[in-house]
Amino acid sequence: MVVPTGPLRQNLNVVRPSVRIAPSILAADFARLGEEARAVAAAGADWLHLDIMDGHFVPNISFGPAVVKALRREVAIPFDVHLMIAPADPYLAAFAEAGADLISVHPEAGPHLHRTLQTIRGLGKRAGVVLNPATPVQAVEHVLDLADLILVMTVNPGFGGQSFLESQLPKIAALRRMIDATGREIALQVDGGVTAETAPRCIAAGADVLVAGTAVFGAPDYAAALAALRGNSESPPSRSPPPRHAA
Ligand code: DX5
Ligand code: ZN
Repeated sequence: MVVPTGPLRQNLNVVRPSVRIAPSILAADFARLGEEARAVAAAGADWLHLDIMDGHFVPNISFGPAVVKALRREVAIPFDVHLMIAPADPYLAAFAEAGADLISVHPEAGPHLHRTLQTIRGLGKRAGVVLNPATPVQAVEHVLDLADLILVMTVNPGFGGQSFLESQLPKIAALRRMIDATGREIALQVDGGVTAETAPRCIAAGADVLVAGTAVFGAPDYAAALAALRGNSESPPSRSPPPRHAA
C-alpha cells in the first residue's frame, strides 16, 4: 500500500475540532459503568450520552436517574441525557437533579413539546428535541427558539448496534439550514449506527455532535476510536477490499 505523504497525508489526518463526540454508555460494560465512564472521558470524549429507556416508548429498558447520579460522581464532562420514555414530564426534575446538563425529549413522548422544553430550561438545563426516522423536521420548526440541540435518530430508538439509516442524511442537511437561519447556537446531533465510515457523511450533511455507542465501547482503544470518528485516524478505513495474496 502506498502511504500518502505531504499535503494528501495532511488531508487524511484533518482535525475537525468543532465536531464533538458523545459516547453512549448504553454500549459499555454495565458491570463496570464508573470505570467505563472514566475511561472514555480520559480518552477525550466531549460529552457522555445516557440513553434512558422505559420499555414502553421503546422496546427496551436501560437505567434511570439513580445510575445517572452515580455516574455524575465519576466524570466531569457534560451529561447528555436522551429520554426515550413516555411521559417524560414527570421525570425531568429527577434527571436534572441527578446531574444532566442537557435533556432531550421526543415530540411523541408528550402532548406539549413547547411546555416540556420550557420546563427543562426552567430547571436550568439545556433542552434538546429528538426526531425519530419517520418524524419530519416540521416537528421542531416552531420550537427552535427553545431548543439548544436537535438530535436526528439514524436508527429506530431502543437498541445499540443497529445499521445507519442513509435516508436521514437529507434530514440532517435540512435541519442544518433551518438552524443556520435562526442565527441561534443550536447543536445538531446524530445518534445511531455512527461509525468511522458513516461519521464523515453526517458531518458533511451538517452535524456537529456525534453519538456513538458500539463504535467507541466496542473498540479495544477508546482514544483511537474517538480519533477515527473525528476523521483523525492514523489508519483511515479503506473503502476497497484488502489486497489478496497468493497462498
Ligand atoms: C438508540 C440509542 C443510541 C445507541 C447508539 O436508541 O439512542 O444512543 O446507544 O448505539 P450505536 O452507536 O451502537 O448505534
Ligand atoms: Zn441515544
